[in-house]
Formats: sequence, structure tokens, C-alpha cells
Amino acid sequence: MINPGSSSSIAETANSSSDYIIEMRSISKAFGAVRALHNVNFNLRPGEILGLVGDNSAGKSTLMKCLTGAYQRDDGDVLVENQSTDFSNPHESRDRGIEMIYQDFALCGNMDVGQNIFLGRWPRKGFFLNRRKMYEDAYAVLQRLKVDVNSVYQKVESLSGGRQQSVAIARAISFEPKVVILDEPTANLSVMATERLLETMLELKKHNVAQVIISHRLTDIFQVGDRVMVLKRGENVGERLVADTTEHEILGIIVSGTPENAQNVETV
Ligand SMILES: Nc1ncnc2c1ncn2[C@@H]1O[C@H](COP(=O)(O)OP(=O)(O)O)[C@@H](O)[C@H]1O
Ligand SMILES: [Mg+2]
Repeated sequence: MINPGSSSSIAETANSSSDYIIEMRSISKAFGAVRALHNVNFNLRPGEILGLVGDNSAGKSTLMKCLTGAYQRDDGDVLVENQSTDFSNPHESRDRGIEMIYQDFALCGNMDVGQNIFLGRWPRKGFFLNRRKMYEDAYAVLQRLKVDVNSVYQKVESLSGGRQQSVAIARAISFEPKVVILDEPTANLSVMATERLLETMLELKKHNVAQVIISHRLTDIFQVGDRVMVLKRGENVGERLVADTTEHEILGIIVSGTPENAQNVETV
């Protein structure tokens, strides 16, 4: 089932590292006795949508948190636009154009949509908060995303899960990132909301934003993704172009993939 030869097209296009926006080399991370990541390689190109998959505890979230600086890696290198980086926290990676949207959205429920989108950087007019500008800008971001949130004045806690997520994404997008990481974004979404999210992802792709989607739902990844990378027990166990594989094959790699069979674009 796992045929390393079938992903030669990945190797052919990966000879130059200069076209990566993100490159992570040999990342290791342990939490006490738990080895969460072991020599993991990861890369991403501008405008690419990468599905990051694997069982629970495979290390997917940890890998992305090591990228944003939410966690500190024990070992390995992280390059952003070919520059070695060492982010101490997600604010630093945000400054370099990397946004991660967490599973719980990290929004303030008792504030409204506009306030949430511009949380921590509300526009000012002299000494005063420029409310009008904040709501106008919030509306513009939501429009640009073709996201339908009825009112920028609504409290976030009154919105459905799907709409809250739209707000979280709008907030991320308002920073005009080059890379967006979505951690299990469709886990709690309705079919409609999922479709809207996938459309938003394709819209961002048109703007050349690179995206990582962590998901258990291979259908979603196959609908919008360019490439799939599989982690298992903290190690690379396989990688395929979506065009060259099937959900069935990826499931097989998730279940029975081994590090020895991993296609590693760095070493080909
Ligand atoms: N903050 C943390 N403290 C201790 N262990 C953690 C922490 N974050 C993740 N882990 C452990 O690291 C491993 C990988 O977790 P995680 O990256 O969340 O996996 P995934 O996102 O693929 O489900 C798991 O064994 C998990 O329990
Ligand atoms: Mg996770």
C-alpha cells in the first residue's frame, strides 16, 4: 500500500529550498518523558494548502506550536523565508506573517465581533478609540473573506461555532499573514460552515497565503489540499501530493506507516 515511488513528483519539485516559505528541519520536542516530536521535517510553499494528519497525539499541534513559538523546540531548525528563526512566542511569529488559529478560537465571548477582530490593537483617533473605523475595518475584513457574520456589533458568545470560527479567521487575516495554520478547524462545524471555511481557504490561496490544515477529516483535505503530510508517534511516516493519492492510501499510512517508508523531501 505504501509505495515510496509514487511521490516522485514531490521530489522533482523540491530540489530548491529557496521557494519554501517555511522549512523545519529535524525538529525534536519532549515533554518530560513524552517524546512528542522526533527529527520531524516539514516544509511549505507560498500559496500551498498542506494537510497535516495523523492519529491523536501524533504531534501535529506540537509541531505547529514549535513553528509559532508557542512551544520551544528542543532541537532542529526553523527557517522562515530561508532565514533561521527562534520565535520566543506567537507575537514574534505573527510579526513575520504566521498566524495560527487554535481549536478553541481564543476569542473573548463577551466582546463583540469588531472588538474581537481588533483585540489588543483597537484603532485610535488621538487619545480616543476610533470606534467607527474599527467597525468599518472589521466589516471590510469579513466582506473580503466572503464570511457571513451578520453584525460586527454582535457579541461573539451569541454566535454559532461556525460563525465564531469565522471571526477567529477574520482576526487572523486582518494581520495580512503569509501563513495560516488551522488546527482541527472543522471538528465542531456544521456541513454548511465547513463548506464556507473551505471556500475561505481557497480564497486565501488565491492571495498566495500558505495554509496548513490539521484535520481528521480527510475529505476536507482532499477537497482543498495540495499535499498531505502524515505524522505518527512524533515522526514523519509519509507524504503525498493530493493529486497522486487517495484517502484510502493516506488512511493506510496513518494506521501502518513507518518512519522508514516516509517520503522525505529533504533527503530525496
Ligand atoms: N503542553 C504539553 N504538556 C505535556 N505534554 C504535551 C503538551 N502538549 C502536547 N503534549 C504531548 O505531546 C504529544 C503530542 O501531542 P499533540 O501535538 O497535541 O498531538 P496531536 O495534535 O497530533 O493530537 C502527546 O503525547 C501529548 O500528550
Ligand atoms: Mg492537536
